[in-house]
Amino acid sequence: MATTRRMFCFVLVMVLMGCCCSAKIYKVGDSKGWTAKHGTYYDWAKRKEFQVGDSLMFQYDGNVNDVTQVSSRLEYQFCNSLSPKAVYNTGHDVVTLTEPGYHFFITSNHSQCVAGQKLVVLVVHDHPIPPPPPPRKIFPFGKDYKVGDSNEWRVPEESDFYSKWSEEKQFHVGDNLLFYYNDQVDDVLEINSNLEFKSCETTSPVAVHNAGQDLIRLTKPGVRYFITSKIGHCEAGLKLRVEVRPLSKSVPKKMQLSPFDRFINWLHESFRPHPHH
Ligand SMILES: *[C@@H]1O[C@H](CO)[C@@H](O)[C@H](O)[C@H]1NC(C)=O
Repeated sequence: MATTRRMFCFVLVMVLMGCCCSAKIYKVGDSKGWTAKHGTYYDWAKRKEFQVGDSLMFQYDGNVNDVTQVSSRLEYQFCNSLSPKAVYNTGHDVVTLTEPGYHFFITSNHSQCVAGQKLVVLVVHDHPIPPPPPPRKIFPFGKDYKVGDSNEWRVPEESDFYSKWSEEKQFHVGDNLLFYYNDQVDDVLEINSNLEFKSCETTSPVAVHNAGQDLIRLTKPGVRYFITSKIGHCEAGLKLRVEVRPLSKSVPKKMQLSPFDRFINWLHESFRPHPHH
């Protein structure tokens, strides 16, 4: 009994410790701190998984730099610090990441920002979201489509390549899109509207995928739009519009009939009493 209780306390302590130690503080750029070096922060952030509750610590010379948090990828890309979300300038700032999603940091010192003093981090929920049930159970007849077939997801030679690819297919609820691409070059942004699709608007995606191998389920009827955030790539034709049709109910029903059921049906059809006999 005593052993059980001690065991229980031990487990409880471990759980509590787990809770307290889970929020991490990352020193941006490690020993280099927050400074201008091309590619530094891209590589630095790529190897880490940031969770809600973690913090970033920026260490720098406050006389010539600051930490300007901006809202969009576009502001980040163009070092636009005109409408910041937040500005830190003590030279030793700790910024806690309170929401999931992308967080963009630049310096308002424009030349320094252009020289690479900018950071984007993707923050995920601290509790892993339980994976959705396997699609095959819900949609037994879903098909997998490899987007672009052998071209995969990359700038095509013909700018209408993906619209042709999509038009010659019929997508249904339950089907999957598989995006394969070089994650150093492209990503997959899902956007909401035809207008954003036409103008390759990357600022308010509904979902961002950048694993290089993404499976996207088509769970309801309607139109879905996919582009890439790489400048110029969407304009060159790396964009996909997919029309998802409702699951046609009659098809699965018919296909589900076993040979025996079909035999019974055949009996019914053949020996049904005819009214004009
Ligand atoms: C920007 O940074 C450079 C290099 O550290 C510095 O010489 C310059 O004074 C800074 N500009 C401003 C406006 O702080």
